[in-house]
Amino acid sequence: MKICATIPEARAACGDARASRKRLGFVPTMGALHEGHLSLVRAAKAQCDAVAVSIFVNPTQFGPTEDLSKYPRQFSGDCRLLEQEGVDILFAPPVEEIYPGGEVTWVLVEGLSEKLDGRSRPGHFRGVTTIVAKLFHILEPEAAFFGQKDAAQLAVIRRMVDDLNFPVEIVGCPIVREPDGLAMSSRNAYLNREERSRALVLQRSLQEARQQFNAGERMAAKLISAAKEVFAREPKVALDYFEIVDPDTLDPVERISQTTLVAVAAYVGTTRLIDNLVLNP
Ligand code: PAJ
Repeated sequence: MKICATIPEARAACGDARASRKRLGFVPTMGALHEGHLSLVRAAKAQCDAVAVSIFVNPTQFGPTEDLSKYPRQFSGDCRLLEQEGVDILFAPPVEEIYPGGEVTWVLVEGLSEKLDGRSRPGHFRGVTTIVAKLFHILEPEAAFFGQKDAAQLAVIRRMVDDLNFPVEIVGCPIVREPDGLAMSSRNAYLNREERSRALVLQRSLQEARQQFNAGERMAAKLISAAKEVFAREPKVALDYFEIVDPDTLDPVERISQTTLVAVAAYVGTTRLIDNLVLNP
């Protein structure tokens, strides 16, 4: 695995991969890798001839009171995992390489960036789209792999790629869960034992909505109030949002008549967790 810390090195390594007529797949990450990230790497390996991964804890997507400084960093362990998966190129730049200072240019997907997580985390998606656009320009992959775990992020990135004509195929990959159903996340490492078990309320609320849907309920408001009752029984977890939306526009849906995203975010202690599922009538 070639490890690149600078933009010229990363450009050259990806250029070499393309020169040998390889389809280059790309998996952007912030590190602290788990099976969710590795599932994206495996999908990229299966669909592409060469795979590049980035590890960059992107400061511009963290709000002023968020967890940038304490975000988990475990670079040598991450490198071992990526070596084992047969990754070809790892781009792990220092912050100054990506943001030397004085930047005034942003990529903003208007509207979509203020929905779901964007509403609770102002500026977050502007940071995400800006870094992903920069990484696409630097590495020029043919395909890029993102988790359905961050469903709003996936919608925002798909829209950016459409609107700005990036020549890259966006591939969405299923959510990888712990055996008890908790969606894997680097932030799960913040949870103590008690919080870890309380965190299952996100999954329970989604399952409650699915059960009501399977029983024939199609009105979003009914599913939302059933899910909120599940949260009411776990008072130490603070619900941020429980929404039923169109998966592309992220606009609320009143009655479920086509593929629909059910998304939840909640604070377990100070840790903000998200999860979602898709309903198909
Ligand atoms: P990060 O949180 O490290 O996630 C990197 C990728 O892994 C994202 O596409 C995310 O959706 C996916 N992922 C995380 N947990 C997953 C799970 N349990 N199952 C499946 N996929 C999962 O998302 C980011 O980083 C950043 O915003 C980034 C896109 C790298 C831009 O900085």
